[in-house]
Amino acid sequence: MKSKELRDNFLGFFRQRGHRIVSSSSLIPEDESVLFTTAGMQQFKPYYLGKESPLGRNVASCQKCFRTSDIDEVGDKRHLTFFEMLGNFSFGGYFKEKAIALAFEYLTSFLHFPVSELRVTVFEGDEKTPRDEQSAEVWKKFGFSEEKGNLKFCSREDNFWGPTGKEGPCGPTTEIYYRDIEIWNLVFNEYYRDKNGLFTPLEQKGVDTGMGLERLTMAVQKKSNVFETDLFYPIIRQLKKSGFETAGRGERIIADHIKGAVFLISEGVFPSNVGRGYVLRRLLRRAIRYANILKLPEMSLISAAKETIGIYKDVYPTLLSRNADILTVIQEEREKFEKTLKRGLKELELKIEEAQKQGVKRISGKTAFDLFQSYGFPLEITEEIAKERGFSVEKEGFEREFKRHQEISRRGAERKFGGIGREAGIEERKLHTATHLLQAALRKVLGDKVRQMGSDINSERLRFDFSFPRKMTQEEIKKVEMLVNQKIKEDIEVKREVMSYEKAVNSGALAFFKEKYPQEVSVYTIGDFSKEICAGPHVRRTSELGHFKIVKEESSGAGVRRIKAILTK
Ligand code: ALA
Repeated sequence: MKSKELRDNFLGFFRQRGHRIVSSSSLIPEDESVLFTTAGMQQFKPYYLGKESPLGRNVASCQKCFRTSDIDEVGDKRHLTFFEMLGNFSFGGYFKEKAIALAFEYLTSFLHFPVSELRVTVFEGDEKTPRDEQSAEVWKKFGFSEEKGNLKFCSREDNFWGPTGKEGPCGPTTEIYYRDIEIWNLVFNEYYRDKNGLFTPLEQKGVDTGMGLERLTMAVQKKSNVFETDLFYPIIRQLKKSGFETAGRGERIIADHIKGAVFLISEGVFPSNVGRGYVLRRLLRRAIRYANILKLPEMSLISAAKETIGIYKDVYPTLLSRNADILTVIQEEREKFEKTLKRGLKELELKIEEAQKQGVKRISGKTAFDLFQSYGFPLEITEEIAKERGFSVEKEGFEREFKRHQEISRRGAERKFGGIGREAGIEERKLHTATHLLQAALRKVLGDKVRQMGSDINSERLRFDFSFPRKMTQEEIKKVEMLVNQKIKEDIEVKREVMSYEKAVNSGALAFFKEKYPQEVSVYTIGDFSKEICAGPHVRRTSELGHFKIVKEESSGAGVRRIKAILTK
């Protein structure tokens, strides 16, 4: 079975059993406490906490995920940064008994995995939360037991999951192994863990499961590692064209990292030295280094990226619409890094020699940071090279310097922008939402001919250019202001939905014609007042905006007017 069929097969199974199929959410989560989407349950977090789910109680999805936690293990048979998670979820619908029965039925009746090849683990309990006897009982009905050796009680480290971020739903898990490879994790959200690590039972219990599509594909396609499945092989084959017989660690790292980079770029992440951009940079630079070690031809990484897009384009069409951006970003990062890579390697050699002379087997954090500053070496690269020589790197020292440096540039940025130096601070966010209200108000007061011609936001004001043939009257300006302030007062929820561009436009969402949109877009709706395609970010409710005031209305070229507006408390 091809991976594409497997995805459909899984979702089909759960659809038949009363689950609503939900599309993957973005890799960049709305939940600000985490950098990336790392699990299928993330987009459903509020529904575990009692908020009514507009999707129904039982859903299933195939979710794009990205994790940096396993980055050092990438290169073995099955660890990855980017992967897809198949999952079924229930928010107060069913619980342990049915969740286990569904998983067992899917694996044995649908995929025909022999029961004799399955093993399961269950939470043994500790002083914080009790042993999960119920799950064990259900498994016993299906022929699993400690005596037979196919059921094992394990500790919190293995069999307790969550929360993502600082707080949230969490609970004991039961994990299913196929031929000794962990394939499916069933989480029973019974508790809420708060910021202080305190567990309180949840009023409504929930199910959250996750099964890595890559591992499942490996099992179904009877391969010994994920890189041999159709989710990877086209990339590996491309790299192997350059004369390598088997996929070694280097090729696996390149394939994983380029795939991760392709997806991150497709979601609007660009290489930088902070946050998500820095993660992307680390992936790309590590792939570039391995391409150099393996002496791959110049265009190999681009070819690997193209193969990645080829594998996933039907499932995630955004990859196709952002194809050009993806390839350009990879190419530019390669050109940039190759300029300094050789010199950096020389410098590192010198440092290693120096240290050797002094009889120390350790590179200082300061040196690692200098290599990062001057030659763009992410810590992993320095560590990896050092390790190859039997050296270690003083990681804490690097982190210290890194933080110190970020603090200095943050302060610089704050001075420059008058308060907000972070990417999209709260003020920009508010002004962004205010811009949507403004456009809607202008269209109400001046008519539907008003279209956005441009906009610019900094932390202090918004600027909005729109098509309109004459100067606005004082009365019109007042009307627009009042209308926006009225909507702010109404405390309306700002809702975000992801849908195809076509569906968005057909549903009446405003699009800005100058923008090239991906096939899948976010649509922000504010009650029945405003609906626009927009990448965000926005506030959650209009009442967060305070008071809206237009400070200027002027001409900005033929047939175009410009408004500057601010928000006050
Ligand atoms: N949320 C669970 C996991 O990520 C299913 O393993």
